[in-house]
Amino acid sequence: MTPVENFAPRVLAWFDEHGRKSLPWQVDKTPYRVWISEIMLQQTQVTTVIPYYHAFMASFPTVEALANADQDEVLAHWSGLGYYARARNMHKAAKRLVDEYDCVFPLSVEGVCELPGIGRSTAAAILSISRGVQAAILDGNVKRVLARFHAVSTWPGEKKTENAMWELAEHYMPSERCGDYTQAMMDLGATLCTRSKPQCLLCPLQTDCQARLTQDPTQFPIRKPKKAAKPEKSLQLLVLTNASGQFLLEKRPQTGIWGGLWSLPEVASDESVVLHCEQRFATQVTEVIPLSSFRHTFSHYHLDISPSQLHLADISLILEGDKYQWFDSQEALAQGLPAPVRTILMQAIA
Ligand code: ADE
Repeated sequence: MTPVENFAPRVLAWFDEHGRKSLPWQVDKTPYRVWISEIMLQQTQVTTVIPYYHAFMASFPTVEALANADQDEVLAHWSGLGYYARARNMHKAAKRLVDEYDCVFPLSVEGVCELPGIGRSTAAAILSISRGVQAAILDGNVKRVLARFHAVSTWPGEKKTENAMWELAEHYMPSERCGDYTQAMMDLGATLCTRSKPQCLLCPLQTDCQARLTQDPTQFPIRKPKKAAKPEKSLQLLVLTNASGQFLLEKRPQTGIWGGLWSLPEVASDESVVLHCEQRFATQVTEVIPLSSFRHTFSHYHLDISPSQLHLADISLILEGDKYQWFDSQEALAQGLPAPVRTILMQAIA
């Protein structure tokens, strides 16, 4: 992987003409605003993020506002974006910034990486875009651009390959216009050097791109060696209603899937929901309505969810503690809920 000349100037010239410059986080590029955008944009498309970003900034315009918010409120703004650890870590980091950093974002990549939920590439993106720091990123987009440009023959997830790619990324990072260069590399990967059907003829790097010399540039980056199919799990979720037409939600533990979100009580797939419910909540079930089953796929497994709606006679017992809470239908939908739980509730309410 020998670096070539003129890499950054070509990328920057292309950016000046074709790059994205008016995304919501590209106006008023404070470290706080850029940080939130970078976290939201991890694993999520720009078009999905935009409305979430506007709502988030309206509710939490500063790091203090975020630090002072309740976790429930923060998670409610994340509801539907998935990967909720991102939101929990961001909230933790905001508190640390207020308590230990006097609200001043650290100035170095190492310093930013100390904050929960921020890795080297994200730290570099935040610092280069908001402060013009000369720090290179290596996110999925940039990995693809570099892997193609140099026809990298090993999987970039391997430590050795990744280290070599970091070296290239650092080498190509210019000393001026660092923020524009970062954005330019992301845009190049997102708009031209796409996973499938790359538009090589429009690319500013086409003349010496090594992948372009091969039959099929999309063979780069080399795919991860195939692993076994995702495991399948199944469970039942209960929509419990009471005589006042309220819905029972259960707060998930902080760790594990949907950590800290409000969810529905869970029952193993082979158990009788009626017996389970009558024992767990020491009450009588007066009606059972099966709801539609569906599959929700996480990064590591498939989850087959069978929901049912159960009407309960009397349930004063379980309101002890703050793990369970009754909500009116609209109140329930306003909580931070995992997307599949929201779908089930909406089905039950309709
Ligand atoms: N994905 C991650 N960061 C991004 C950014 N700043 N602009 C567009 N897409 C991105």
